[in-house]
Parts: sequence; structure tokens; C-alpha cells
Amino acid sequence: MSGPPILRGEVSVPGDKSISHRAAMFSAIATGTGRVRGFLHAEDTLRTVSMVRSLGVRVEAVSPTELRIGGQGMRGLSEPPDVIDAGNSGTTIRIGSGILAAQPFLSVITGDPYLRRRPMARVIRPLVRMGAKILARDGDRLPPLCIRGGGLRGIRYEMPVASAQVKSALLLAGLYADAPVTVMEPLPTRDHTERMLGAMGADIAREGNAVTVRPAERLSPLDVAVPGDISSAAFFLVLASVHPMSEITVRGVGVNPHRTGLLAVLRRMGADLRYADERSEGGEPVADIVARGGELVAVRVDPGEIPGLVDEVPALCVAAAFARGRTEVRGAAELRVKESDRISAIVSNLAALGVACGEYPDGLWVEGPAAIRPCGPLDSRGDHRIAMALLAMGKAGGVPFDVPDTACIDTSFPGFQPLLERLTR
Ligand code: S3P
Repeated sequence: MSGPPILRGEVSVPGDKSISHRAAMFSAIATGTGRVRGFLHAEDTLRTVSMVRSLGVRVEAVSPTELRIGGQGMRGLSEPPDVIDAGNSGTTIRIGSGILAAQPFLSVITGDPYLRRRPMARVIRPLVRMGAKILARDGDRLPPLCIRGGGLRGIRYEMPVASAQVKSALLLAGLYADAPVTVMEPLPTRDHTERMLGAMGADIAREGNAVTVRPAERLSPLDVAVPGDISSAAFFLVLASVHPMSEITVRGVGVNPHRTGLLAVLRRMGADLRYADERSEGGEPVADIVARGGELVAVRVDPGEIPGLVDEVPALCVAAAFARGRTEVRGAAELRVKESDRISAIVSNLAALGVACGEYPDGLWVEGPAAIRPCGPLDSRGDHRIAMALLAMGKAGGVPFDVPDTACIDTSFPGFQPLLERLTR
């Protein structure tokens, strides 16, 4: 058994998943041909491409990561001939519902067994209040969703949970409503939708915790380069953070301040993370992130920080297992309804590895530094971020163990495993 490896060198990660989904969807309703470079070529985002194709939009893959999308204009989509399959992708079904709810035709959208267990009432309820007709399984709570759209009214809506997906769905539907739509969020969430729709000419403005969009007639096409996904970079940043002699540079990462919560927490733990070559691409801040490790100490992650690192908690727990003391994450009940119940998935797997840890209804604690012990196969629960966190944990702990289901990694980061092997060799 050995300690964490020393990481050195440079790496780049695939395009941002949230921005790639949005670029494909929003381009579909623009007037004219959009161009998206750095598109994330992964299972989730390809589901969005299939969805827009089934709505009559021509999408040409110039290369796996460059798309040309023949926008049909806001009123040019056509009724999908069959059920739309969003696969594992919550972003496709939830943000997609905002567009479908505005169309004067019938759409049925579903997903894989994991997605069909995830809550949809959060998006159905406000869209129904706007005037869409939506039926769903289990009392209008679970996919499939059957949507007959059109004739939408403006609303003011206070979201009960902080969700960028719900906010985005309502803002998109608002482009088609008869009056402005205002969405109030309990905590600020990622604002890629606001930035992108603004760049396409929509009238969209924030005041305090409220975002308002006005009805639109047309959107201009996009010509964007998608930055690298900080949620994918997270695993390498954490691995570099846990060894004082590590230093890596992750090139061209999106550093939208609503997405960089993990960096703030790793800095508090004692890692040195800096930006180099800061720039802006397609209205999003981008930088190279230089990460140097340290002797990490445990921290408390507060509820207000959660939206800024919601997808990074599995990676953060790897750092927590090597930090001195008890790291606590609270106010993160949303993690129970992600691609898996991530609170339970992290705690049961870390416990199997001999890490002291436990659950709260709305979070977890992890105590370090842990001596990782060999164990039987670990269960990714078909969740890409759990699988990647476990593989990173194996490297950090210096103990080989088996994660049988890693195919799910292709959801967001095809090529993760060879990159991990290269960096930790
Ligand atoms: C996303 C928002 C978050 C995040 C998800 C992607 C987005 O979900 O967890 O991976 O692209 O808007 P919620 O909106 O459910 O918080």
C-alpha cells in the first residue's frame, strides 16, 4: 500500500456538459445556422442532439466536437414522430421540457431507468401554471412526460429548490409567453442560460435573486467555443490537491463563478489553486487552472455553497478522506435525487474502503486522513460521477480495487480512465 501519487504536467478536459446541452438546444430555435466548437461528445449531450433532430432540426457533426446546427427559428420546430429518449440526462428532459411546453404539438419524453426515478414535478408544476398541458407517471411526478404545449402565459415563480435546470426551462418557455416570466431562486445557481440567451439577443435581466425574460420573436444564431468542464477537471484537481508535491495545469476550463465552489473549498483545505491566462469565450470566463497540493485539513461546507459545487461533492469527498479532521457537507439534500442517491453512494463505498464517514439527511461527513484498505468490488450505482470519484479514490489511496460498472462514465467524460492512468503513472 502506498500514499497518493505525485501528479505533474498538463491536461485538458472535454467540453462543459451544461453549456454543450444549452448550445445545442438554443441553436435549434435560433434563426440561422449556429456553430458550436468544443462540444462535449458524450452520451448525455448526444441525447440532446437526438432530441433536436427529432424536432426537425438538421445537426451536422463537422467533427465529433464541432456541430453545425440549422436553427429553425422559434416557431419552426416540428412534432417529433416518436418518443424522445433523454437517456440518463436530467438536463435534456428538464430544460427540454421548457422548449417542448411552448410548441403547438405533442411530445413524449422519457429516459433510462435511472432518469425515470428522478423528480419532474419541479418543472411540470410551473410549466402547467404557464398553461402547458403535461401528464406524467406517478401523479405527474416521474417520466415519461407527455407534453401538449403552446398558449403560454407569463408568471412570477419562486422556485422551492435551487435548480438551474428548472430556472432554464422556465426562462425558455418565457420566450414564448404572452408576458414576461420572472424566476426567483432561493440560492444563485449556474447562469449559463442567462448568458447564452442574452448573447443571442433575448431580453433577459437579473435583479437580486430574480431573473426576468421577456417574450421574443427571434434569436440570433450562436458561434461559440465551449470551455472545458470544471466538473470533469474536478477529479484531477482533487488528486493534485492531496499531495504536497503535485502540480498540474488543467487548460481552458470554464470558471464561471457559479461553478467554482470546489476551488474555494480546496483552497480552504490548504491546496493552492490559481488561474492563469484568464480569458472570455462566448460570454463565459475561461482560465487555465494551476493546482498545487498541500497538507489538507478538514472544512465545513455550508448550505449556501452547495449550488456552486453540487456536482463536485463526490470528488470533494476524495480530498476529504485525505484531509486531517472531519469534513462536513450540509444543505445538500439535492444530492439524493441526482443520477443516484449520491449521499448514500459515497458513504457506503467509502465505508467499504475503511474511511470513517456517515450520512445526514441533507449531507455527509468524512474523516481523514484515512488508511484505505483493500475491499471487494465497489458499486458505482450506474452514476458517472460516483464511478470517477471511486477510480480517483483508488489512485489516491494507492490500493487497487474493482469498480465493475464504469461504462456510465461515458455519460459525461469518455476517455476519463486513460487520462487518469496517464496522469498518475
Ligand atoms: C445542471 C444543473 C444541476 C446539475 C446538473 C446540470 C444544468 O442540476 O446538477 O448536472 O446544466 O443546469 P439542478 O438544476 O437539478 O440543480
